[in-house]
Amino acid sequence: MKKSFLFTPGPTPVPEPVLAALSQPIVNHRSSEFKEIIGGLRSELKKVWQTQNEVLILTCSGTGAMEGAISSTLKKGDRVAVVNAGKFGERFSKIAKAFELELDEIKVEWGSAVTIKQIEAGIQKAPAAFCFQINETSTGTLHPYQEICEWVRKKYPDCLLIVDGITAVGAMSIATDKLGIDILISGSQKAFMLPPGLAFASISQRALEKMKSSTLPKFYLDFAREHKSILENQTAFTPAISLIIALQAALKMMNQEGLENVYARHTKLSQSTQKALLAMGLKTATHSPSVACTTMYLPNGIDGRKLLKKIEADYGFRIAGGQEQWEGKVIRLSHLGFYTAFDLISALTALSRALLKEGYSHKTEDVLKTFIETYNL
Ligand SMILES: Cc1ncc(COP(=O)(O)O)c(C=O)c1O
Repeated sequence: MKKSFLFTPGPTPVPEPVLAALSQPIVNHRSSEFKEIIGGLRSELKKVWQTQNEVLILTCSGTGAMEGAISSTLKKGDRVAVVNAGKFGERFSKIAKAFELELDEIKVEWGSAVTIKQIEAGIQKAPAAFCFQINETSTGTLHPYQEICEWVRKKYPDCLLIVDGITAVGAMSIATDKLGIDILISGSQKAFMLPPGLAFASISQRALEKMKSSTLPKFYLDFAREHKSILENQTAFTPAISLIIALQAALKMMNQEGLENVYARHTKLSQSTQKALLAMGLKTATHSPSVACTTMYLPNGIDGRKLLKKIEADYGFRIAGGQEQWEGKVIRLSHLGFYTAFDLISALTALSRALLKEGYSHKTEDVLKTFIETYNL
């Protein structure tokens, strides 16, 4: 028998109560029943985002929300500053270029977290928007998001702070309003334990004001229209109804565990996985590891692409590898969303046994012992 295990930092595994909710009959999205569902979700999402403002529920992937955040708020000729420390930072730059905006790109070496010094050096002129990731998932790096938000708010009080929390919201506590974040984005297929298809974006009063003078082209991803709709417990167009119904089940699970416990579990899984992989003799690829995934260099001489294919074929574990310059060189072991310590123990065992077969010497029992002791199982 072969069983499949998903260990990618998106899409992430979907728990049974959520799967069951996904199979419920479709209701019409203009019905009072659906309005009630949206009404309930509005207050639940505000709790997760720690905001008094609305959190839009969009039917698109996370990138759609990144694009909409820019196209809905900015004007032709506006300047944006973007932290580019990997694939997803680069995506903000690409979106800014697609809309022909002036761009200050703060390029950071892969695996490093940006510093305020680098930001200061990279900004030429006051930006209309500052965009960055909390977790740069392509390298598994956590940026010092609180420090960045504080700095931007102080230095550029009118600047829109557009934050990609796609692999952060729901996995760590982020005080949207306190930090002065204008738009905090996330996606369903990450900590929210749902299939892909929904994105979320909180909208501050400052962002709403900016929307009034926005001149960039937009139609489907028009946050002003979506904001008006959600105030009436609606979405502008036909949403992914099943995903929205299942979002209730996912949030119920998160609330039953308790959000603080969800965050603590992510922190413990991240720290224990990090230590276990170091005990395996692997080298960390980032000095600021995120709670979403643990990124490690593979030993010299091991082809990551072949190794990961073999782990999937032999043991059924789908573990993420590196992208672009890191392709074949790193692994990104996910602990984002529906994972327990025992899931990670299985994945670490599979990785360890596969590496042993490739002739990489270490002891599986040392790896597991380190994990168990660090997690305090
Ligand atoms: C930090 C971050 N930003 C953006 C994205 C893109 O999201 P999507 O693939 O849902 O468009 C991802 C996806 O992994 C991500 O991790």
